[in-house]
Amino acid sequence: MYFWGKLNKKGCSVVSTAHEKASSMGTPLTPYNTEESKKQQVATMFNNVAGTYDFLNHFFSMGIDKLWRRKLVKLIGRKQPKMILDVATGTADLAIAESKLHPTKIIGVDISEKMLAVGREKIKSYPMIELQLGDSEALQFPDNTFDAVSVSFGVRNFENVPKGLSEMRRVLKPGGTLYVLEFSKPRNWFIQKLYYFYFCNVLPFIGKLVSKDARAYSYLPESVRLFPDGQQFVELLQQAGYKDIECKTLTFGISTIYIAGK
Ligand SMILES: C[S@@+](CC[C@H](N)C(=O)[O-])C[C@H]1O[C@@H](n2cnc3c(N)ncnc32)[C@H](O)[C@@H]1O
Repeated sequence: MYFWGKLNKKGCSVVSTAHEKASSMGTPLTPYNTEESKKQQVATMFNNVAGTYDFLNHFFSMGIDKLWRRKLVKLIGRKQPKMILDVATGTADLAIAESKLHPTKIIGVDISEKMLAVGREKIKSYPMIELQLGDSEALQFPDNTFDAVSVSFGVRNFENVPKGLSEMRRVLKPGGTLYVLEFSKPRNWFIQKLYYFYFCNVLPFIGKLVSKDARAYSYLPESVRLFPDGQQFVELLQQAGYKDIECKTLTFGISTIYIAGK
């Protein structure tokens, strides 16, 4: 049985798995620890789990992920964006939620063809949504194209996070806004214990049984644990050139919404 154990002052655990130890020695945390690039491994992992992704997402979060996306869409709606890019769109749940804002166009991009294939079935009755195979770190759009760029549970999986953040900024129009929804680490002691037990034991066990990918759902808590959250992520946004950055924690800090202006 594996707990995240004690957290240090920055909210990071002091207990590590073998994958995390390799990562702390300079090798980036990757799903399968093979010779392939992190990007290729991430694409393979999401291709492997695409068929069960939506079910497990809603099952593990007990539907709370839908509330988080709804909250994000409400915040995006404040500025009534007309052109929206949803990066790392996966099976297009966020893009579909954004259609309620009645923008002119929503483009979703992802590196996993199989996640997009699931998404394509779901967007059939949403003509303003278009899904494209594409890399967040090398976006195929001209500068200053979108009013809003969104990314939910995607940045943590980027191979080069600063590159992804600056690419998203490049395609935003001046005055446009980036919206990031990402897992973060809860700070309350009691919530931490409950959450980490669930996240590190229950979730990988059921995830492996249902998705048949032994690694995907043990990579998830490891990647959350190692990913910068709160002020550390705000600093990455600042370094990428964003301004007027806001941070909103959700559900005891299990997730955070970051809003950043160009
Ligand atoms: C956890 S899923 C999130 C999907 C969706 N946004 C959601 O909220 O359910 C992460 C997605 O990020 C995609 N992804 C990871 N790195 C990417 C990159 N560099 N460019 C585009 N998509 C990427 C993966 O293929 C995967 O579909």
